[in-house]
Amino acid sequence: GIPVGILGTGMYVPERVLTNKDLEKMVETSDEWIVSRTGMSERRIASAEQASSDLAYEAALEALRQANLAPQELDLIIVATVTPDMSFPSTACIVQSRLGAKKAAAFDLSAACSGFIYGLANATGLIAGGMYRNALVIGAECLSKITDYTDRNTCILFGDGAGAVVLGEVPQGRGFQSFELGADGSGGELLKASGGGSRHPISPELFDSKSQFIYMAGKEVFKFAVKIMGSAAEEALRKAGIDKSEIDLLIPHQANIRIIQSALERLELPEDKCMINLNKYGNVSAASIPIALAEAVRENRIREGDKLLFVGFGGGLTWGSSVLVW
Ligand code: ACO
Repeated sequence: GIPVGILGTGMYVPERVLTNKDLEKMVETSDEWIVSRTGMSERRIASAEQASSDLAYEAALEALRQANLAPQELDLIIVATVTPDMSFPSTACIVQSRLGAKKAAAFDLSAACSGFIYGLANATGLIAGGMYRNALVIGAECLSKITDYTDRNTCILFGDGAGAVVLGEVPQGRGFQSFELGADGSGGELLKASGGGSRHPISPELFDSKSQFIYMAGKEVFKFAVKIMGSAAEEALRKAGIDKSEIDLLIPHQANIRIIQSALERLELPEDKCMINLNKYGNVSAASIPIALAEAVRENRIREGDKLLFVGFGGGLTWGSSVLVW
């Protein structure tokens, strides 16, 4: 098929910073505990007026500018999110309207923290097959809006933000070399926000149950994450025919520094070949990987021909990985 790669990247995070010190005042925790167990120091929090589409829109503008593409030329918009503005219309349609991307098809994608890689795979397939010429893929989250700030097991982890990429044709030999996507729905109970859907519709009782908030079985998710980050990364490398020693930059989901370090050990990579920014933004679910990518681009850490490895996991359970030649 047509070689497909990234033509532009963008990111946006809200201004408000929530520090570990702030969290010390909200729940029984400490800066020392959070830093040593997660690697996180700060996260960004959306204002009462901001929803995921507002963050997505800002990230999209930067990605389109970098790609030198007008919104009117866009063929497709995919927004990966677990915190859509509303059940419907989709966040992608809201972004489409604000951008004035009149020609673009638009839909949301639900694969939790793996959503951005699922989105890349979908868009790449559609462009490689000749159905579309380009696509805007966004990961956007306002996790603060579904976080219980009385639950110290979860509230220290999550933040808000958005990252975006524009995909299109690139020269032969560059672009995406492989995708590995997977799911294990039997682990769905480990990580969920079950309230407010058709199983548990909104009701007065729902608020007492707190099921609108993120529930996480931290230890189980941690074990799954360590295992799947390694195996998914290796599978994407195998499919691309690339050895782990050739990787120039690993861009992992930013869930926990200890999960990332275990992936680095398994891939025998030094930490300077890995993009890490969870200290500043926490876990932003589907937005973590595109924010890390956009920040790596801003920091001039990626050169033409570099081999990038993306790998993520999340609720579902789901996972995804990909090799890209920049
Ligand atoms: N401050 C202080 N103590 C705490 C805190 C806190 N914020 N949170 C938990 N503790 C306590 C626990 O209650 C526990 O006490 P106990 O032993 O008396 O019960 C103790 O600290 C140790 O808890 P553990 O669960 O063993 O801590 P662990 O080292 O596993 O770290 C963590 C917890 C950080 C949540 C870790 O399990 C983790 O990162 N899990 C994976 C999270 C993840 O990747 N989530 C993906 C989400 S992606 C998505 O789809 C949104």
